[in-house]
Amino acid sequence: MTDSSTAGAAHARREDDILVITLDHPPVNALSADVRRDLAHAIDAAQSDPQVRAILLVGAGKNFIAGADIREFGKPPKPPALPDVCNQIEASAKPVVAVLHGAALGGGLEVALAAHYRVALPSAKLGLPEVNLGLLPGAGGTQRTPRLIGAAAALDLMLSGKHLSANAAVKAGLVDTLADGEGDGDSALAAGLAYTRQLLAQGAGPRRSRDATAALADKATALAQAAAAGEHVAKTLRGLYSPAKIVEAVRAAIEQPFDEGLRTERALFLQCLDSPQRAGLVHAFFAERETTKIPELKAARPRRLDTIGVVGGGTMGAGIAVSVLDAGLPVVMVEQDDAALERGRGRVAQVYDLLVKKGRITQEERDARLSRLTGATSYDALDNADLIIEAVFEDMDVKLAVFAQLDRVAKPGAVLATNTSYLDVNRIASATRGPADVLGLHFFSPANIMKLLEIVVGEHTSPETVATGFELARKLRKTPVRAGVCDGFIGNRILAVHRQAADMMMEDGASPYDIDAAVREFGYPMGPYQMADLAGGDIGWATRKRRAATRDPALRYVQIPDRLCERGWFGQKTGRGFYLYADGARVGTPDPEVLAIIDEERRRAGVTPRPFTQEDIQRRYLAAMINEAANVLHQGIALRPSDVDVVFLSGYGFPRYRGGPMHYADSVGLDRVLADIRSYAKEDPAFWKPSPLLVQLAESGRNFASLNQAATSPA
Ligand code: 3HC
Ligand code: NAI
Repeated sequence: MTDSSTAGAAHARREDDILVITLDHPPVNALSADVRRDLAHAIDAAQSDPQVRAILLVGAGKNFIAGADIREFGKPPKPPALPDVCNQIEASAKPVVAVLHGAALGGGLEVALAAHYRVALPSAKLGLPEVNLGLLPGAGGTQRTPRLIGAAAALDLMLSGKHLSANAAVKAGLVDTLADGEGDGDSALAAGLAYTRQLLAQGAGPRRSRDATAALADKATALAQAAAAGEHVAKTLRGLYSPAKIVEAVRAAIEQPFDEGLRTERALFLQCLDSPQRAGLVHAFFAERETTKIPELKAARPRRLDTIGVVGGGTMGAGIAVSVLDAGLPVVMVEQDDAALERGRGRVAQVYDLLVKKGRITQEERDARLSRLTGATSYDALDNADLIIEAVFEDMDVKLAVFAQLDRVAKPGAVLATNTSYLDVNRIASATRGPADVLGLHFFSPANIMKLLEIVVGEHTSPETVATGFELARKLRKTPVRAGVCDGFIGNRILAVHRQAADMMMEDGASPYDIDAAVREFGYPMGPYQMADLAGGDIGWATRKRRAATRDPALRYVQIPDRLCERGWFGQKTGRGFYLYADGARVGTPDPEVLAIIDEERRRAGVTPRPFTQEDIQRRYLAAMINEAANVLHQGIALRPSDVDVVFLSGYGFPRYRGGPMHYADSVGLDRVLADIRSYAKEDPAFWKPSPLLVQLAESGRNFASLNQAATSPA
């Protein structure tokens, strides 16, 4: 029976003697200031209401609570603070029950852990993913979790940021019991009420996580687990700030009384909150969610996507096929001849065989996915495909011939996509009678693993076609970024320029090994020359040859990479490139012969080598990247700076905690970046031309972030 109700971000009403507090703050019930205030108020009021015997916390909609409101980080705090609300919940004299469905993450799980009892529905996913935002659980999570599930399990949860299923959470001891029900708020409410009634019938009173002692009873073992986690962090999470703080907070949970532990946690949380890494990671979180906010999706709906065609079964075609099969869609693969088709099919099967071997999928899953793959050597087999992705050789004539064939066989309304890395999508579209149906879908290698998908919009591409490309990305769980047509689109175009800056430094005196080390030190998993060796030097070589005729003669051309390619040194696959890969090794070692070739080239170019510090290398590398990114924005190739950030974070290994090149540029200051470029321009004005956009922003005291806001605010 309901006898009172208030509208708000969290509203309370009575069901007999149970006060139901519903968190109702779409889309994910994040704990904004309003929610915290209403929640605190309701808990407080319940204490003095004689008709209330127990309190039930439930989320409206699809989730319990997705955590603190991430948009509030970095802004002046508004009371009540979440840790205080959690303490107030835990201190309640009447039993508090949390029923979990959908996301119970971060501060959301911390609210649940402050409650006295927890029941979860099958849809629940529980986790403390703060580490992904450069934070630690700051509302008692570092203190209550180890008390409930032990130090090792708590550290694993907090350092990985992983989500636990309801079942796993019960097994771990984070949740008391499971209940049946769908993934909506009404089902959660029904399950929560039933469990609360059961508890009341049993005479259950408050049971506080702060008083749980069993899991940390063996202090020596818990401290050893914390020490092991500390070593793991130092070794594998290099460069990250918050993981070590998480370990420190758990150590406090083991060694300090609860209230003191909470104070330690608070101090550590505030340090993380203030760190530039938190700002970078939060930026990355929102940037990834902005990329789908594009004009075409407001104007058009996607077409159906039931069957996908892939032309070419090479490295990319096979990877794309796997990605589509993984999403549950059937694939028709077309190759030039039977032998090539067999190789293509073999590449797909090889990926699945490896997954079976690693225990990631079962043999049945492998067979089921492969059964959705059909192959042909005739284009006619594509006549039923809703979307066809071309991944043949990077050669305009070959692509034009393929698109003429696709135009002939594709059904009306089928979307035709090219996976070209650099070529002109408008020209490719001109081989068809319906350029409105043509777009670029630029996958990254390995296509079944890399998240980035550049969606290249041509001059005539229709909004419906664009919307269909984004829909494909959704189905494949890719991160789509809208790009305009130019040589290399967003990512490869910018990469070509900062790689050129690296090559110039190499000729001027830095070794490729120095450059790679400096770039790794910045936070990349590998440097540009390790990357080139991995991708295969022949790809860049072919592009350089293609561009030779149109190359700007004023631009310096560093020939060292060509010298290696002329020797057939294409990298890992040939056993040597910039590095040596003895006996098929995957990690290369520096090669004295490469250094000798570089010396020779320096002499030929008349360069007297000079030293570069790591900082010199990093500043030039980043300045070239930022400047070209500004050009890409200025020309409308990317819609907003944060889209450029997403491209580099999800496709090129830019360290996520630095937020991407545009966010990084803002964090060091655009005036400094511009000053660097102007100083380099003194030695090479043709290469180091400041982008007009960079000049405009720096000289008016603005930053890239100001353009993000403009791109996203409603027209
Ligand atoms: N705060 C503010 N907004 C949030 C949010 C949060 N915690 N979580 C999600 N949102 C927003 C998203 O930005 C998005 O907004 P938009 O529609 O304007 O773009 C909207 O909610 C929907 O989010 P998704 O597109 O991500 O929806 P999904 O259904 O794919 O995923 C989710 C839902 C699993 C909850 C996912 O959004 C997620 O992982 N959220 C973050 C969870 C998290 O990191 N929580 C910890 C926060 S830090 C914390 O709690 C500190 C505490 O310890 C003190
Ligand atoms: P690849 O050489 O491994 O494969 C190309 C395949 O296309 C071969 O199997 C070949 O038999 C087939 N093919 C050629 N002509 C054909 C035709 N007329 N009909 C049917 N099949 C035909 O090349 P890769 O690396 O897979 O590249 C393919 C495309 O993807 C290129 O445009 C490339 O620029 C692009 N790309 C490549 C990336 C990479 O890292 N390799 C990354 C992103 C895009």
